[in-house]
Amino acid sequence: MCGIVGYIGENQAAPILLEGLSKLEYRGYDSAGIAIFNNNEIKVAKAKGRLAVLSEKTDNGKTVQGTMGIGHTRWATHGEPSDVNSHPHISMSGRFAVVHNGIIENYISLKKKLIDKGFEFISETDTEVIAHLFEYYYTGDILDTMVKVINRVEGSYALGVLCSDYPDSFIAVRKSSPLIVGLGDKENFIASDVTAILKHTRDIYYLEDNEVVVLKKDSVKIYNTDKEEVQKEKFTVDWDVSAAEKGGYEHFMMKEIEEQPTAIRDTISPRIKDGKIVLDDISLTTEDIKNINKIYIVACGSAYHVGVVGKYVIEKLCRIPVEVQVASEFRYCDPIINKNDLVIVISQSGETADTLAALKEAKNHGARILSIVNVVGSAIANASDDVIYTWAGPEIAVATTKAYSTQLTVIYLIAAYMAEKLGMFTSGEYARFIEELVSLPDKVSDILKSKEEVQYLASKFFNCHSIFFIGRNLDYAVSLEGSLKLKEISYIHSEAYAAGELKHGTISLIEDGTLVVALATGQELFDKTVSNVKEVKARGAVVMGVTTDTHDNMDDVADYVVKIPSVHEALLPSLSVIPLQLFGYYVASLKGCDIDKPRNLAKSVTVE
Ligand code: F6R
Repeated sequence: MCGIVGYIGENQAAPILLEGLSKLEYRGYDSAGIAIFNNNEIKVAKAKGRLAVLSEKTDNGKTVQGTMGIGHTRWATHGEPSDVNSHPHISMSGRFAVVHNGIIENYISLKKKLIDKGFEFISETDTEVIAHLFEYYYTGDILDTMVKVINRVEGSYALGVLCSDYPDSFIAVRKSSPLIVGLGDKENFIASDVTAILKHTRDIYYLEDNEVVVLKKDSVKIYNTDKEEVQKEKFTVDWDVSAAEKGGYEHFMMKEIEEQPTAIRDTISPRIKDGKIVLDDISLTTEDIKNINKIYIVACGSAYHVGVVGKYVIEKLCRIPVEVQVASEFRYCDPIINKNDLVIVISQSGETADTLAALKEAKNHGARILSIVNVVGSAIANASDDVIYTWAGPEIAVATTKAYSTQLTVIYLIAAYMAEKLGMFTSGEYARFIEELVSLPDKVSDILKSKEEVQYLASKFFNCHSIFFIGRNLDYAVSLEGSLKLKEISYIHSEAYAAGELKHGTISLIEDGTLVVALATGQELFDKTVSNVKEVKARGAVVMGVTTDTHDNMDDVADYVVKIPSVHEALLPSLSVIPLQLFGYYVASLKGCDIDKPRNLAKSVTVE
């Protein structure tokens, strides 16, 4: 969703802001704008549509001169995408320019109050109240005014603010929306995430909620809401610029699919020592694990699908009951949880609004929070008792692939770690599990080597209007992900069903030529799923089976079969999902869809 970049230094700000914003395009947006300070005044340029429109309007930033500025990509929430609703918003006198990511929940009452005081609004946005509040509370001291403003607003915000009285500094703050500070040589930055400024610096500060930062060309000072200076630890990002570039691939999504063996290896390797899983990252003791009454897994979208896998795997290995819920439901369901429950929160971005709210809800009930997060220092990571990071590196394509795969890996690590502490493994089983876990990256690479096979199948089915994915237990969990992957990027209607549930209604949708993708990878339920394949075949379906290289019977019933290598049953999702990711990708590619930025979607969903 909205992206922010801010710059102060010795170079022209506008081109740096435009370039930085282009790195945030993946977050999703529908308009963009920049505000540049020059000669004691603030100049603003904004445009609806792609960043290219703004670049053209400003001749790649050349028409807005100045060495300090803020920029924004807007994903419309309050008011349609338009020039006037785009950020930056300007206060009535033109003294303040504001960019904002998040939602001001009390903006209606604030707007009414400001209108009564004579302020005029020109946009439909919630953000415009902030610009006017700055004017209203302005004491001549920008830090003091910022504190007054944030004390009045409710909701989530990352703000970047220019004030024309301050020619050599600008100010920013965050609460529940991401904002980092980049530290350069005679230049400093703010950004919604590291990718926007990676070209300039890898040294950053992660801001906590309500920390206010004042940036000058050669200094960065951070304050709490009592206006006391706070000392922060500098963090050095170890990604290089190429991690956030396409590197010769046509789409980030394919690059990220191909990066999965490395991402899985990077996530597993540091956590296996001397044949044991070592989770130094978390403080759960064996005693704590023994006392766990129930586990909840809470997440959204693909991360929720990882949770569905987690339910099967943790229950199987640890015999602890697991409930999985989508965060947007969990947060309002008055969950029955207490201090003996563990809540596992999964999020790539670490900033999904519903997931963060669900986490807070669980915390209010006294539960312990263990999160699985990709973005270091993100809001969800900060709010958790324990964090296990997925070392997937930056994920740019809106449709997740490598983050999903690394989240699965962490779920396996947690499940096996707890099972071992609970004495659920024989020593031979534990060693075999770890051996199989470590074999995953190579097996994923093997599947990727024959991706043309899936490309061929995509060429046969890319004109379909509706596709069904079926499977049982873990295969069902992966079907959910396969179906989402396909629909979100190719816009083909698709549903995932527990294979045995189809005949309770949905089978009536199967007609001549309907494509059914049937996953039957596990040993125990293989025959059961094959029976379901026969049922849909009898009603005219064309079936693409996904199974392991040990199951030949699938060839007898399905029209097409994709084989994956065998592995420990609990780990099969890591392999069976790969052909489904590829299928979604190739179908979308053949349909000419905007694969990395599918319509209506944002990478980080920071609004409810
Ligand atoms: C689908 C996808 C989304 C995200 C979901 C949660 O490909 O990427 O469904 O999984 O929006 O996002 P995070 O993991 O950032 O909380």
